[in-house]
Amino acid sequence: MYSDEEAAALYELLNPWGPSDDFYLALVMDAKSVLDIGCGTGALLHRARLAGHAGRLCGVDPDAASLDIARRQTEIEWRLCAASSLAWHREFDLATMTGHAFQALASDDELRASLSAIRRTLADGGRFAFETRNPLARAWERWNPANAIDVVDASGRPVRISHQVESVVGDVVTFTETTSESGGGPLRVDRANLRFLDVDALASFLTGAGFEIEEQYGDWRRGRLTRESPEIVTIARAGDTRPTL
Ligand SMILES: C[S@@+](CC[C@H](N)C(=O)[O-])C[C@H]1O[C@@H](n2cnc3c(N)ncnc32)[C@H](O)[C@@H]1O
Repeated sequence: MYSDEEAAALYELLNPWGPSDDFYLALVMDAKSVLDIGCGTGALLHRARLAGHAGRLCGVDPDAASLDIARRQTEIEWRLCAASSLAWHREFDLATMTGHAFQALASDDELRASLSAIRRTLADGGRFAFETRNPLARAWERWNPANAIDVVDASGRPVRISHQVESVVGDVVTFTETTSESGGGPLRVDRANLRFLDVDALASFLTGAGFEIEEQYGDWRRGRLTRESPEIVTIARAGDTRPTL
């Protein structure tokens, strides 16, 4: 047995600060009011406050255990909710969705509802920055037990994390993440669906929700987006046009 709290703390250990966080932190520091959607344990906004961001910072996530860790920083607003349930109207200059949280929006309905809700939270001209893995790079082909990771968790317990893809149906990849005792049996198994939108499908969903793509990159150094790029990093602007959804 491995609790949600232990899993959330382990996430932080497995995902230390990296180039993607630097990319988003620069955008956050330049914006007066920021909504981080799927904020997880809140590392991005924690760092922004620490770096002197004096404006409004707000993080939301549907996972209570992750949000409990985020809440340790009390000078930031935190709310337990999914992207589709965002209830703010025209309040933020920047919305972010980092760590591939965008790919958790797996069905057309959830994607449309979430993008509409994100669009509504943004002030006129506000921006939505996020990344999704480039489907052409087929990252899921490396998600198998041969690439398991051994770590010592925050309580000093050695654990093994391994992934196994169960199915690839259209652009949705279903896989499990198993946390095991090192050299022993499974402690917990989490199943997830992640969507791998291609560039055209992504553009169509964004336009349908009233966004205009302002910048798009293939990596965290703002490299050109090509067929081989690992990521589709997008900064979309809330357009003047009425959403068609
Ligand atoms: C891989 S984590 C990324 C967390 C954080 N953004 C980061 O970069 O460390 C993905 C996060 O998306 C959240 N998530 C899943 N479905 C979501 C949804 N429908 N709306 C908002 N967040 C969601 C999960 O709870 C999880 O915290």
